[in-house]
Amino acid sequence: MVEDPQKNVTAERLRDFYGHEPRVFMRTFGCQQNVRDSEEISGMLCALGCAIADSPEAADIVIFNTCAVREHAEDRVFGNVGRLKILKERNKKLIIAVGGCMVQQPHIAKKLRESYPYVDVIFNTNEMYKLPSLLVRAIERGGGVVEIVCSEFAVREGLPVKRDGGFRAYVPIMYGCDNFCTYCVVPLVRGRERSREPEYIKAEAERAIAEGYRDIMLLGQNVNSYGKGLQSGESFSSLLRELAKLSGDFTLRFMTSHPKDATHELFDTMAEFPKLAPHIHLPVQSGSDEILRRMNRRYTSGDYLELIDYARRAVPQITFSSDIIVGFPGETREDFDATLALVREVRFASLFTFIYSKREGTPAAAMPDNTSHAVKAERLSELIEVQDEISERREEALVGTSRRVLVVGDIAADAREGRLADNSAVTIDGECPIGQFCNIEIVSRTKKRLYGKVL
Ligand code: 5AD
Ligand code: SF4
Repeated sequence: MVEDPQKNVTAERLRDFYGHEPRVFMRTFGCQQNVRDSEEISGMLCALGCAIADSPEAADIVIFNTCAVREHAEDRVFGNVGRLKILKERNKKLIIAVGGCMVQQPHIAKKLRESYPYVDVIFNTNEMYKLPSLLVRAIERGGGVVEIVCSEFAVREGLPVKRDGGFRAYVPIMYGCDNFCTYCVVPLVRGRERSREPEYIKAEAERAIAEGYRDIMLLGQNVNSYGKGLQSGESFSSLLRELAKLSGDFTLRFMTSHPKDATHELFDTMAEFPKLAPHIHLPVQSGSDEILRRMNRRYTSGDYLELIDYARRAVPQITFSSDIIVGFPGETREDFDATLALVREVRFASLFTFIYSKREGTPAAAMPDNTSHAVKAERLSELIEVQDEISERREEALVGTSRRVLVVGDIAADAREGRLADNSAVTIDGECPIGQFCNIEIVSRTKKRLYGKVL
């Protein structure tokens, strides 16, 4: 909850300091969970009377919600924080707050303190309800950093949400991760798995549907292990069944699923309820069993392919997307070839591909890594090329078929954008109201774009 007795005092203190409603600029880096966290930060600050600014230049308070998953994400944040220095010099009242996964790492918080002394607040998203009082403390101190780094992770309930996902409502079902994949910093910065009580999830989904959201996306680092530690004995599949029975015209989707925890029951549930989008994001990371073992993924490529096979039999129209890391320490050409072979076999609808990024404090950071960056970059291009060809074939096969899409907005004066079950975009010609589902025929495609007309 927003610290209630303090709420009015905090709002007044901020308003007095600026002489008007404080204008907040918020920028989110990283995954959907971060987008959702930012929605709660904005919701909370708007409830305190803040207004949203559309640039740092127009803001009294700049907030960055950061990502730690790869070094590149961190570099972007440092670059963006660096560019605020000049604004701070011009406007001494500007408050700069940096929070989220990145600052949960002690070495990053230290670097921020030492090299970016004009940052006023360092906060963690898990205790973001404390952010308003941290902003007030920063104002009162008039210099130096006010900091809170999380030591205890809990489930958050009750914060207002200012949704920012367009037609899509993000609904977290669990936080944290217990998997400790050896390359991944997430368990270190987001803590252990904990699940939201099903009644809170259901109430939030119902509210979103009533507000007109047609695409409900359930979020968690590993949604398949939802329910661990809950008294109710709820599992992910039973939660999905309850949510799919809610009334209203909506699609339910979820991410991210860990292959080791995706059950046959999950795919049977997807088959049973048409409201469940026939699509799953199922990160495989590598096609090499040796690399999977060293990544601590706890499945083999054979297990993964069996799962895909079961899913296809249970839900014939299902599509898959995945994440792949290229150049994990010790990855040989043979290992990489196994990844290419798996990608060709599964024929993903889309792939998110990354070059391995060394993360301090993770076991993989200590593994010998003799492959040059140039070789890794070549492998990445090769993988993207293979996937591009698969995507092209897939899109060609879609031409001439009819599909149900969610109409998400205007794309030109006479065309709208729709989204297929797997979230790929289609340009639609014909009468179709925004925010509604619509049946279309896919009539043509160009590189990376599908075209359809309303049936
Ligand atoms: N380096 C590169 N990619 C990573 N991911 C997670 N950690 C790293 C890392 N250290 C990727 C994984 C994950 C996705 C969200 O980010 O593929 O599924
Ligand atoms: Fe990271 Fe693995 Fe957890 Fe995903 S499942 S958040 S990759 S540790």
